[in-house]
Amino acid sequence: MSAKDAGEATLQYGDQSITLPVREGSEGERGVDISALRKETGLITIDPGYGNTGSCESAITFIDGEKGILRYRGYPIEELAEKSSFLEVAYLLIHGELPNKEQREEFDLDVTRHTMLHEDFKKLFGAMPKSAHPMPVTAAASSALATFYQEPETAEMMERAVVRLLAKMPTIAAFAYKHSIGQPFMYPRNSLDYSSNFLHMMFSVPCEEYEVDPVVARALDLLLILHADHEQNCSTSTVRMVGSSRAPLFASISAGISALWGSLHGGANQRVIEMLEQIEREDGSADKFLERAKDKNDTTRLMGFGHRVYKSYDPRAAILRKACEDVTKRMGGDVGGLLDIAMRLEEITLKDDYFIQRRLYPNVDFYSGVIYKAIGIPVNMFTVMFAMGRLPGWIAQWLEMRRDPAFRIGRPRQIYTGETERHI
Ligand code: SDX
Repeated sequence: MSAKDAGEATLQYGDQSITLPVREGSEGERGVDISALRKETGLITIDPGYGNTGSCESAITFIDGEKGILRYRGYPIEELAEKSSFLEVAYLLIHGELPNKEQREEFDLDVTRHTMLHEDFKKLFGAMPKSAHPMPVTAAASSALATFYQEPETAEMMERAVVRLLAKMPTIAAFAYKHSIGQPFMYPRNSLDYSSNFLHMMFSVPCEEYEVDPVVARALDLLLILHADHEQNCSTSTVRMVGSSRAPLFASISAGISALWGSLHGGANQRVIEMLEQIEREDGSADKFLERAKDKNDTTRLMGFGHRVYKSYDPRAAILRKACEDVTKRMGGDVGGLLDIAMRLEEITLKDDYFIQRRLYPNVDFYSGVIYKAIGIPVNMFTVMFAMGRLPGWIAQWLEMRRDPAFRIGRPRQIYTGETERHI
């Protein structure tokens, strides 16, 4: 379905006036279609950070930032988190419907059968220094997939490429981790489900099999579901932009991984844990830390707080907070102190004018890191986990863009403010 006509908007500038069509989506969101603006008036719009600019019509994910609503293909995130597996959610995002029993079994088997990497692929990891952050390693590996699979973009080959990406990303992530700690790669096991297989590849060693705790595997599946898509965020917009030049899917996903690495985006979950550990190391005073986060002259930010779209509680953070308590109780360890600090930070901000006025609430990154740490995932792998979760969303958005008959290469304009013509 596409957006429907919702009347017109008139723009008046000097003696110029232009009437522009307004489009309305299925949830009542309205946008002024400015496609004719420059041709008719010579004017363009300016919107640094694109906070007011829609790049596309999309039927994949709906977010209502005011009400804290997140739905994948119409299903509330709370229901999917409770009732679905990550691969079922991946199928939903990519195909538009939840799989029936037969489709789910076929998809699970298809993904299971593509988890291996070509033996030559292993040399890529060996070329990287052990100290390399796993995000650029994962981005490089995703792009390298395009060198091993160079088939034409037929419908059948695209289906195969989608399965290969979903299947191989956990293997790539685990291999990047094993390389960084000097341990041998652990091959995927077809007898294990998606999240259990990843935990096995991460934590088993040739001399000892890692015993997957079903509660931990379920917590990991939940984390992947909650990260699976989020409409036109920074990394998804990057995947669309790169794909709009007709670059292959693997290369577009590699660009999305790089965009996600930034500390203001997916890199925030790593910085949340570093922030909580810093507070614990100093004197554990959440109150003191918050004063610095509010101080204009101090660049400290309360990582894991605030959001471009959510101006009320991020629904994913609410689900993660509950999962956090369950997993830390089950796993124990030194994470309990970090969770207490996180909950204290949240408790104070909910009553603090600075955060209330700016409508800053915990986002998806605030509690996710505490769960990853409780599971034993190293801090520098947290954003790789985000990428693994976001992969089906990136794929679904890329396919939607490429299947749109009217899709065009992305090419924004600018207002030039440099030197006028001059001569050497
Ligand atoms: C993700 O887009 C998505 O959907 C992203 C994501 C996804 O699923 O893809 O949800 C995942 O990226 C979540 C966000 C993770 N990032 C962080 O947690 C980093 C910390 N948060 C911020 O840097 C910030 O809140 C952003 C980047 C998330 C949003 O930035 P905006 O919308 O550009 O808001 P802003 O920077 O203009 O801030 C508005 C005001 C400013 O104060 P004033 O200038 O008005 O006085 O709020 C302040 C900011 O200083 N502010 C914060 C703050 N976030 C904003 N102050 C202290 N701590 C913070 N975390």
